[in-house]
Amino acid sequence: MSDPRPVVGVFDSGVGGLSVWRALREALPHAHLSYLADNAWAPYGERPAEALQERLLALVRDWREREPLHLLVLACNTATAVGIDALRAGHPDLPIVGIEPAIRPALAATRSGQVGVVATRATLGSARYRALRGACMASAAPGAAVHERAADGLAHAIERGDETGAEALCRRHLRALLDEAPDIDTLVLGCTHYPLVLPCWRAACGERPLTLIDPAEAVARRVLNVLADAAAVPGAASMGDAVWRCTGQPEALARATRQWLGLSPVVEPIQS
Ligand code: DGL
Repeated sequence: MSDPRPVVGVFDSGVGGLSVWRALREALPHAHLSYLADNAWAPYGERPAEALQERLLALVRDWREREPLHLLVLACNTATAVGIDALRAGHPDLPIVGIEPAIRPALAATRSGQVGVVATRATLGSARYRALRGACMASAAPGAAVHERAADGLAHAIERGDETGAEALCRRHLRALLDEAPDIDTLVLGCTHYPLVLPCWRAACGERPLTLIDPAEAVARRVLNVLADAAAVPGAASMGDAVWRCTGQPEALARATRQWLGLSPVVEPIQS
């Protein structure tokens, strides 16, 4: 008998999607979560958009040949920014939930009106990000402003599990943002890798009270709603399980799931 549980695909360039996986597991304890890390190509953030788009289309096509995805979560701001439209056009039968820098919640939360966004260069340079920013600013309070910083190198340090390097980069990028806009009181973590090193951000903030915004839980709620609309929320009768695949070194993803989630999964390498 075939398994009636929906398969929720969770995609990232590498280990960043683990921050979303964590929120999904919490919201959907009985779902079958299938994680794919394109770590042969990570980090995505400094690659050209056209190459990424082609890569994403090929990966999702192969993935769907491997297993029946009921819903795909692009747990990667960069992949969402450059590829979600092409993926939706190529897979009109597959619900796809993306992740975007949480500018709107940040503008709602800020008291000073000054919001910072850290994300990859590819996300910040995308037309999708500019449109999102424009839409948010159109309804923002007078005087509000959004300040961006491409956190070059940070996803790569996190990918390597290098927390010392990550902390130095959090400090450097935050300092650059605050030099530009000292009144920033709310910081959007616009790359799914960044919430994995929350303690590094906190150390970089020091005494400064800065609200850090991670949209992972909002994404998980959205996934729950989409599955509920399709009457596909798995019931408590079945245990939630997980599959882990990657295009590069399986040890790297296995180490990261231990380091960031405290899990010890078997990771299957796939050809890409
Ligand atoms: N985790 C990804 C994001 O949310 C990509 C980071 C990268 O591969 O550069 O943007």
